[in-house]
Amino acid sequence: MKITEALIAEHGVFHGLFDYIERTAPGLKTLAEIKAVAGLLDATLKPHSRVEEELFIEPLDHCMDQLGQTQNFHGEHEEIEATLEEIQQSKTAKAARMLLLKAVLACRRHFDKEERSVFPMGERLLKAKTLSTLGSEWQRRREAASW
Ligand SMILES: [Fe+2]
Ligand SMILES: [Fe+2]
Repeated sequence: MKITEALIAEHGVFHGLFDYIERTAPGLKTLAEIKAVAGLLDATLKPHSRVEEELFIEPLDHCMDQLGQTQNFHGEHEEIEATLEEIQQSKTAKAARMLLLKAVLACRRHFDKEERSVFPMGERLLKAKTLSTLGSEWQRRREAASW
């Protein structure tokens, strides 16, 4: 399996999670409930972002620099994480809910950009052998649950 296929498969799980959060967020009345949902999203998203940075963006770094996207890419991961962490400091359910929906929207935009431009670019720039070697490393980490 190519690394891009593995990452897209992970995206599929997140798209379902984003739909669920957007559908249920208006009905979450307490701050604790919203913080729990944000914590779940943060805990599942972080390993995805880390593996993406290590097994896909780093091998592409020399090309990303040319396109001026590296900073932007890391920046978006950090920005999403910062918003999710901010929720844990929120004092009201209303503020936390707004931040949660803001984080989901930022995730959707980020994922969309990866699927429409970053992953196809990686498939053009990296050799088929490299893509499958990185895919094997992704599988090894998944099996070892070391991330
Ligand atoms: Fe990402
Ligand atoms: Fe991603």
